[in-house]
Amino acid sequence: MFFKEIELTDFRNYEYEKVSFHRFVNVFTGRNAQGKTNLMESLYIMSLGKSFRAVKDADMIRFGAAIGRAKALIEKDDRDMEIEIGLVKGGKSIRIDGVSRKKTSDLLEQVYVVMFSPEDLRIIKDEPARRRRFIDRELCKIRPVYYSSLLRYRKTLQQRNTLLKEGVINEEILNVWDEELAEYGSRLVLERKRFIEQLSSVSRSIYEGLTVNSESLSAAYEADIAPAETLREQKERFTDVLIKNRKNDLLRRSTGRGPHHDDIRLDIDGVPVRQFGSQGQQRSAALSLKLAEIEIIRKETGQDPVLLLDDVLSELDETRQKQLINLFRDTQIFITATALDDRLRAQIPEHALFEVSSGHVERVY
Ligand SMILES: Nc1ncnc2c1ncn2[C@@H]1O[C@H](COP(=O)(O)OP(=O)(O)OP(=O)(O)O)[C@@H](O)[C@H]1O
Ligand SMILES: [Mg+2]
Repeated sequence: MFFKEIELTDFRNYEYEKVSFHRFVNVFTGRNAQGKTNLMESLYIMSLGKSFRAVKDADMIRFGAAIGRAKALIEKDDRDMEIEIGLVKGGKSIRIDGVSRKKTSDLLEQVYVVMFSPEDLRIIKDEPARRRRFIDRELCKIRPVYYSSLLRYRKTLQQRNTLLKEGVINEEILNVWDEELAEYGSRLVLERKRFIEQLSSVSRSIYEGLTVNSESLSAAYEADIAPAETLREQKERFTDVLIKNRKNDLLRRSTGRGPHHDDIRLDIDGVPVRQFGSQGQQRSAALSLKLAEIEIIRKETGQDPVLLLDDVLSELDETRQKQLINLFRDTQIFITATALDDRLRAQIPEHALFEVSSGHVERVY
């Protein structure tokens, strides 16, 4: 799967621009604030329907314009596909091959994009919320039913918390929310367990390839409610926890237990990277997770995802840069950098080079 073309109209700092891409490697250089990340964002939204920047959809409309649009031409399984995302103040519209789709989830399973930015290098050090977001996004991509369970879980959690905050408690209504929370929360736990097991084994072998010392990386699911074997057992366990904690929840006026407190632990040779890892080990571990993500998408969907490397090459040392670029022979890659030195450029195989300047993209090689 790869992008052939993107057409942007009033999208971020692009008034109108149409760019055709190289099948394999596309490099974008340009000074700060010229539109490199904005261009990556326009590709990214084709896969999840929303941005990796935590923003409202309408923020992507060019300042002063009423509507914005991004239209991508994609080749997938030897046929062309067109995805158009229209942005208006109160929402967005999605068209796939000219047919309008109502739900954002219709986009899932169409295009697979993996984004890697300097922020991702901090996934090890950052708060658990970032690691949960990572798992959630990946699972949404490969398993659209996860997306609907996640939405239902979040909504129920919010309703339950609103009820707890009211103070005067109707225990019957609380029972209803508990039932729903256990239902959807249990699905999340079981999917996360499966995914993290896969992540652990795939990232371990990638990490081995990235490091010269024979160190071993492992990922473990730190579930707030311990995973069970079956969905039924999981629901029972979940319900028990909620019942046991009800007094506490009533006191604190919020839901103290559940997968919204989950985390992943990463160890190198059995030692937690977060507390004890060196900078280099943390980077390699973060990189391994990202690369594992690509492998897992391939395995689960049979599709080659597109890789976006936004400003990240310059953060890696030369060995890791080389390893990263060489790992992907069939994958379409987009690389952005403020500047590209000749030595690095010589290592990038067949590629197209673009110059980005105030919302315009020009192919220079
Ligand atoms: N909705 C919008 N309308 C118009 N311009 C916008 C909008 N959103 C962001 N911008 C502008 O886009 C510019 C940032 O673009 P972008 O993040 O793509 O830069 P960049 O080329 O990646 O720079 P850097 O090298 O610093 O990462 C900023 O000047 C910002 O003001
Ligand atoms: Mg940028």
